Amino acid sequence: MTMLEISDLVAEWDPVTGQRVRIRRDDVVARLCAAGDERAARIVRRMPVAGGFLDPVAVDRLLVRVHTELQRLNEELHMARRFAEILVPMLTAARVTGNRPRVVDIGCGLGFLVRSLAASGSLGAAVDLVGVDLNRALVAEATRLAEDEGLPCSFVCADAFALTEPATVYLSSGVLHHFPAERLAGFFRAQDRPGTQAFVHYDIAATRLAPFGAWLFHRARMREPLGRHDGVMSARRAHSDQVLLSAAAHATGMETFLFEPPRHTNPLCAAMRPVLGVRPELTGEFRRAMGRRARGLVPARTRAG
Ligand SMILES: C[S@@+](CC[C@H](N)C(=O)[O-])C[C@H]1O[C@@H](n2cnc3c(N)ncnc32)[C@H](O)[C@@H]1O
Repeated sequence: MTMLEISDLVAEWDPVTGQRVRIRRDDVVARLCAAGDERAARIVRRMPVAGGFLDPVAVDRLLVRVHTELQRLNEELHMARRFAEILVPMLTAARVTGNRPRVVDIGCGLGFLVRSLAASGSLGAAVDLVGVDLNRALVAEATRLAEDEGLPCSFVCADAFALTEPATVYLSSGVLHHFPAERLAGFFRAQDRPGTQAFVHYDIAATRLAPFGAWLFHRARMREPLGRHDGVMSARRAHSDQVLLSAAAHATGMETFLFEPPRHTNPLCAAMRPVLGVRPELTGEFRRAMGRRARGLVPARTRAG
């Protein structure tokens, strides 16, 4: 059965012109029915239309609401702190190169991570924080939220596969499972570019318990049926360690790792796990800066082999 997330089907922009693509509700419903997902089809049938096309204003409002609920999950899982635990050592190693570091969050949604890192200052003041996302409505809302709080960060529209924003470190959270396995190599390759020293991509660990955990967590924390549906589907679509590591190996200029932190304050945190890439000449410094936590770094050759 093809596993589809509703949020991937109801909003689209032309990658060349940036124009919103009109989407027929019946087409989305037909795709979901063909995938055997009646429940998702029912959710989409309730979405408002004008002349058979999904109402873009209603879609944007819904996706902003769902991502606001997703922010609660990110807070619950301490995602900003968990990223900082890896980013601080990465930036310490990258500073060896002497340039002002730039951190770019790919598929940033409402920019929770970037805004949170900007608000806490946990990466220090001498760093540029940027969020990119394909969805213009989310980028606009992320920008508004950051401006409201006067946070030193910015947001732009960009495609993960045609990155316009250079970065010292690329990161993402909950994005990898949106791409089919055969596109992942291209995703990682796009980040192996001059000036980029590392990447860290957190996504749901593909364990047998993940779909149940996702169901429980989204039931408890989310109210929108779309968010609850996509949350469970995310866990079912999560890529295995092997798939992620062999895709990450296409960033041939990076040494790649899984990171399995020894302990979590919240056991549900184990549900999210990152794939890391670091330039080989920086891994020694990175490991030193990680301190005891470096024990959680599992080199790709160990796991993939
Ligand atoms: C599950 S959401 C995660 C959002 C955010 N990272 C968070 O944790 O709250 C996935 C995000 O990836 C974005 N996305 C999907 N495909 C993308 C692509 N090709 N390029 C950039 N962003 C993309 C979606 O618009 C959406 O905001």
